Amino acid sequence: MRIAVVGCGYLGAVHAACMAEIGHDVVGVDVDEAKVSLLARGEAPFHEPGFPEVLRRCVEAERLRFTTDPALLADRELIFIGVGTPQLAGRLGADMRYVDAAVRTIVEHAAPAGERPVLVAGKSTVPVGTAERLAAVLTASGKDLLLAWNPEFLREGHAVNDTLHPDRIVYGLPEDRATGEVAKAILDNCYATILDAGTPLVVANYPTSELVKVAANSFLATKISFINAMAELCEVTGGDVTRLAEAIGFDERIGAQFLQAGIGFGGGCLPKDIRAFMARAGELGVDGALTFLREVDAINLRRRSHAVFLAEDSVGGNLAGRTVAVLGVTFKPDTDDLRDSPALDIARRLSSRGAVVRVVDPAATAELRRRQTGLDVRESVEDAVAGADVVMLLTPWRQFLDLDPATLKSHVNHPVIIDGRNALDPHLWQDAGWTYRGMGRGVATW
Ligand code: UGA
Repeated sequence: MRIAVVGCGYLGAVHAACMAEIGHDVVGVDVDEAKVSLLARGEAPFHEPGFPEVLRRCVEAERLRFTTDPALLADRELIFIGVGTPQLAGRLGADMRYVDAAVRTIVEHAAPAGERPVLVAGKSTVPVGTAERLAAVLTASGKDLLLAWNPEFLREGHAVNDTLHPDRIVYGLPEDRATGEVAKAILDNCYATILDAGTPLVVANYPTSELVKVAANSFLATKISFINAMAELCEVTGGDVTRLAEAIGFDERIGAQFLQAGIGFGGGCLPKDIRAFMARAGELGVDGALTFLREVDAINLRRRSHAVFLAEDSVGGNLAGRTVAVLGVTFKPDTDDLRDSPALDIARRLSSRGAVVRVVDPAATAELRRRQTGLDVRESVEDAVAGADVVMLLTPWRQFLDLDPATLKSHVNHPVIIDGRNALDPHLWQDAGWTYRGMGRGVATW
């Protein structure tokens, strides 16, 4: 199929490349010239395992192009919207300006031919009610443009695999049965290889499909905050939240995933999605239904304060002039994404309390330097921890988990490790002479 993807950030670029990978002819359209020229050369503008290979392969095979010229939308049968919906400055709601601009561009440049309509498929995470509003814009254009909502569930760090082998595909279709069937047939054709592999398909109306996405992210955020709340209880009772999570996770109704207590969730999705969801519920007059998400957000942010407290407490209460080494700054491993990163937030707070904060991260060095955060960015772990009074593991990159505590100890001033992700073996570190402090994880015999 001749497909376009408008918006070539994380979501759009990966979606474009994966659609080309399964055999379609794809054009990625974005307004950012620097990003487009990198992508057009087959170079990934962000760190995502497996993405550079797919990108290069499809660009070389000439099934994938990137452009800033929206005129290339004219011969497309299916146009995905993959632009961002970030949090509005100073407010909880989502900023819809990029989605609205994408729709305006599509209306101007898409060119349905003869009997064949063009299907516009939204992938961005949007407030419920957006699809209905945008469908009206497409209808008013007088062109034969249909709309479906087709939310995306990929995780950064697993983006290619999640796109090629998703847990499920969701279509939000127009209420009118005949129009809906046309839209469905176009999406079925696009995803034929993925559907043929047995991927579950859920077909719903517009609002359901929009809600599915924010409901999923709200559930995941709630699960993380639930276990972090249990970590708070463990802290005052001497319990170990990792054991607790292990034990409750064996119950299949609960499940073991997303029960990793620590410094909490961040990134470009979970935090802003739960806030936008609360804002939308308020507009709809049902804010009471989502009041619990306020608590989810509050628990999450409290973990950052607790990590700062642990650092402060470990140096006797005053961080001024003390050296703190922070291992990992991105919001999670296997990405260079710093959006709403709990690790970066904690590093900044330590710095504002007068600590000398040295940071090391496998993927974010250049971006951290460019941002001039005031943090001392180092290239290696040894360099970051040299003379440190406290070492904090804040993002559990593989290479940090494999560190040898005995070797590391010879570089630091005081062997204190704060494990912000409960990702290390406390006994291993203690046996090597370190003071180990986890998040809701006292070091117990059992
Ligand atoms: C999240 C969802 O998992 C995806 O399904 C969704 O498509 C995506 O948002 C999106 O809306 O686009 P992502 O932001 O890549 O994906 O990150 P997650 O893997 O969900 O992790 C989010 C945060 O939670 C990270 O900071 C991670 O460290 C933290 N986390 C995760 C925990 O603190 N504990 C856990 O047990 C799991």
